[in-house]
Amino acid sequence: MTARYDTIGINYDQLRLPDPRIARQINHALGTASTVLNVGAGTGSYEPTDRQVTAVEPSIEMIRKRKSSSARVIQASAEHLPFDDQSFDAAMAILTIHHWHDKALGLREMRRVTRGPIVLLTFDPSHRPWLTDYMPELVSLDARQMPTMSQYAEWLGSVTIEPVLVPHDCTDGFLYAYWSRPEAYLDERIRSGSSSFWSIQGLEHGLARLSHHLETGQWDSKHGHLRDQREYDAGYRLVIGNQLPDS
Ligand SMILES: C[S@@+](CC[C@H](N)C(=O)[O-])C[C@H]1O[C@@H](n2cnc3c(N)ncnc32)[C@H](O)[C@@H]1O
Repeated sequence: MTARYDTIGINYDQLRLPDPRIARQINHALGTASTVLNVGAGTGSYEPTDRQVTAVEPSIEMIRKRKSSSARVIQASAEHLPFDDQSFDAAMAILTIHHWHDKALGLREMRRVTRGPIVLLTFDPSHRPWLTDYMPELVSLDARQMPTMSQYAEWLGSVTIEPVLVPHDCTDGFLYAYWSRPEAYLDERIRSGSSSFWSIQGLEHGLARLSHHLETGQWDSKHGHLRDQREYDAGYRLVIGNQLPDS
C-alpha cells in the first residue's frame, strides 16, 4: 500500500509540533501505564518519554521523519496489529482514526492488544468552527470521515469523552488550530500540514472569500473577539475507552 501520508507528510515535522498543554491531557488519560502502544504514530507527536512506547505507522515517509531517539516503530496499520492479546498497559491514537479504512476493526484490534485505557484524540463532526463558513466542504468531509461521538461507545463499550481546548498559540498545526490566527490559512505552507486541505473541492473560492473578509474587516466584525481569547472549543475530543473490568 502507498500510504497517503507518503505525500502529505512533507512538512509534517515542522508544522505539527506537539502542543505541551494537549500532551499533558493525553498523558493524564494514559493513567499509570508503563507500556503504551501508539497507533497511527506519524512522526511521534505526543509519545510519552517516561514510558515504554511502541509505535505503529503505515507511512514510510512519516517513519523516516521520526527522530532517532523516538520510540521503536513498526510499519503496520491499525486494522492488523502485529501483537499478542493484551500486550500493552494502554494505547493511544492521535488525530488518525479518520484515515483508517475500517475504524471498527482498528478499534477492535486496539482493544485486543491493550489491557488498560485506549486514548483517542479526534474531532466531533457535529461542531462547526468558523472556518467551515468559508469552506463548507469541510463539514461534509468531516461527516464522511470522522466517527460520531456515539459510535465510540458502540465500538469500545464504556467510554469517557473530554473536550480538548485548543490554545490560541497551539504549536500543533492541525486543521482548526489557527482559530485565532485566520491569516495563517492563507499560507499554502501552513495548509500543507493538514490532510483536509488536500481533500476538499472549492478551496480557492473559500480562501479568496476569507482573504477579502480579512481585508475589509468583515472577519473581525464577526469573529474578532477570538483574537483576544486564550483557548477555544473547536470540537476536538479525547475519547477514552475505559479499562477492561477484569484486567
Ligand atoms: C494526522 S497524522 C497523525 C500522526 C500523529 N499521531 C500525530 O498526532 O502527529 C495521521 C496518521 O495516521 C496514519 N494512518 C493512516 N491510515 C492508517 C491506518 N489504517 N492505521 C494506522 N495509521 C494510519 C497516517 O499515515 C498518519 O501518519
